[in-house]
Amino acid sequence: MQDVLRQLEEKRAAARIGGGEKRIAAQHGKGKLTARERLDVLLDPNSFEEWDMYVEHRSSDFGMAEQKIPGDGVVTGYGTINGRLVFVFSQDFTVFGGSLSEAHAEKICKIMDQAMRVGAPVIGLNDSGGARIQEGVASLAGYADVFQRNVLASGVVPQISLIMGPCAGGAVYSPAMTDFIFMVKDSSYMFVTGPDVVKTVTHESVTQEELGGAITHTTRSGVADLAFENDVEALLQLRRFVDFLPASNRAAGPVRPTTDSAERAEASLDTLIPTNPNKPYDMKELILKIVDDGDFFELQPSFAANIITGFARMEGATVGIVANQPLVLAGCLDIDSARKAARFVRFCDCFEIPILTLVDVPGFLPGTAQEFGGIIKHGAKLLFAFAEATVPKVTLITRKAYGGAYDVMSSKHLRGDVNFAWPSAEIAVMGPKGAVEIIFRGDIGDPAKLEARTEEYREKFANPFIAASRGFIDDVITPHGTRRRICRSLAMLREKKLGNPWKKHDNIPL
Ligand code: HXC
Repeated sequence: MQDVLRQLEEKRAAARIGGGEKRIAAQHGKGKLTARERLDVLLDPNSFEEWDMYVEHRSSDFGMAEQKIPGDGVVTGYGTINGRLVFVFSQDFTVFGGSLSEAHAEKICKIMDQAMRVGAPVIGLNDSGGARIQEGVASLAGYADVFQRNVLASGVVPQISLIMGPCAGGAVYSPAMTDFIFMVKDSSYMFVTGPDVVKTVTHESVTQEELGGAITHTTRSGVADLAFENDVEALLQLRRFVDFLPASNRAAGPVRPTTDSAERAEASLDTLIPTNPNKPYDMKELILKIVDDGDFFELQPSFAANIITGFARMEGATVGIVANQPLVLAGCLDIDSARKAARFVRFCDCFEIPILTLVDVPGFLPGTAQEFGGIIKHGAKLLFAFAEATVPKVTLITRKAYGGAYDVMSSKHLRGDVNFAWPSAEIAVMGPKGAVEIIFRGDIGDPAKLEARTEEYREKFANPFIAASRGFIDDVITPHGTRRRICRSLAMLREKKLGNPWKKHDNIPL
């Protein structure tokens, strides 16, 4: 027995060393942790149960028969984060550059299948040179098997990708189909074709970092949600993030006890809105002041910052927040903000997370760039997402709610459950100046008359009471009492049941 135990320990040690000390040192030299060190940071101590440690590839071409490393470049299994079950795979760059072979893909597929059966999130730590070149089509098939599972798991269990090294070619499409992508600055990149191919085809000179680094994808393309300074920060923030998510579409969301009273009044909110309607203010201040303990996990903060998306808690339960940001583009809706928020709303709806929408929107951003870029279709995504969502929807209009954007932002007409407004709300087809210049075009040469008409319009529409008189606004509330009113609404909605008509699936404008 002692012999077999020793053999077992030797086999385990061989698997744990991966591609060997030299390659581990090279990984550390790049400021990166190894696949196993990453799991140590991500998971609760001693919670990791590893599977398939002894799996090897089956390839014999190009001298591969002599090069077998147990585990074949990916560490897979399950563990816990703050006591809650998650399935993980962590690619080991020290083994064939973390490249994906047929066997490597099978390991990932196995934990994905199990995660779906038991209802737990799948977290992928990606660090890979892509398809295992020596295996040819077998590795492409492996990728496709993972893609297929990403699609089937979408909306069933949360899927999160952490990009911690190269991610090129078709390999980017598995993360792209997961719900959230986090990246590490300076050591991770994602692109469909690398700088050399770009140079050949389009004659552009671009570095890997510029083409597909963390900054590019969190500020320009919007492909990734967040960029972190290093592996440890990314992994620790991922732990914090998972705490907000339900385990699956059939599990109740996590509830974290809080001492922050639902009754807490916030007097400073009474002066948040500037007297001048054209002066901006920071919508994040409102978010931080009404959520539990000021704890807000923002997603895509540097992309389409005219809309804010992220998770917080109210009375301990997770809520998804969508909010216009008057500080950026005056809070207008545009292509990027509509895409960003639509995807977020759909995630919340998949996983029964109530949505709190904070509205201060002067309308859609005008211009040829927006029209030629397809704002009609992209704006419709957000409209569609809010309209199809059946989760509890609480909306608060703080100031402007103009035009189509009023309808879009989780209005009563899109089955908003509770729609509040502050007394400072202005709900109309458009702002007073624009409106008067259209309906009283004849008075344009007479500034005094125009001013009087503008004042008349402002008096009539720049308030929430016309909407409230029709029941489109359920109540006009005091800013200081906002947290209490939202908490009560969410508590009332806890057992909400609402369904959409039967269909195979919808056809959201893409
Ligand atoms: C097999 C690979 C590999 C791969 C890297 N390695 N990528 N082995 N298949 N795809 C091996 C290297 O041979 C090397 O082995 C070790 O991993 C480390 O690689 P280095 O090149 O030394 O590391 P580095 O300088 O950091 O460069 C990393 C890299 C580069 C940028 C990822 O290795 C690279 O360009 N690899 C190829 C990328 C690629 O074209 N992949 C195919 C994409 S197409 P040794 O033994 O020396 O340590 C694709 C299709 C997916 O993925 C399709 C899905 C539909």
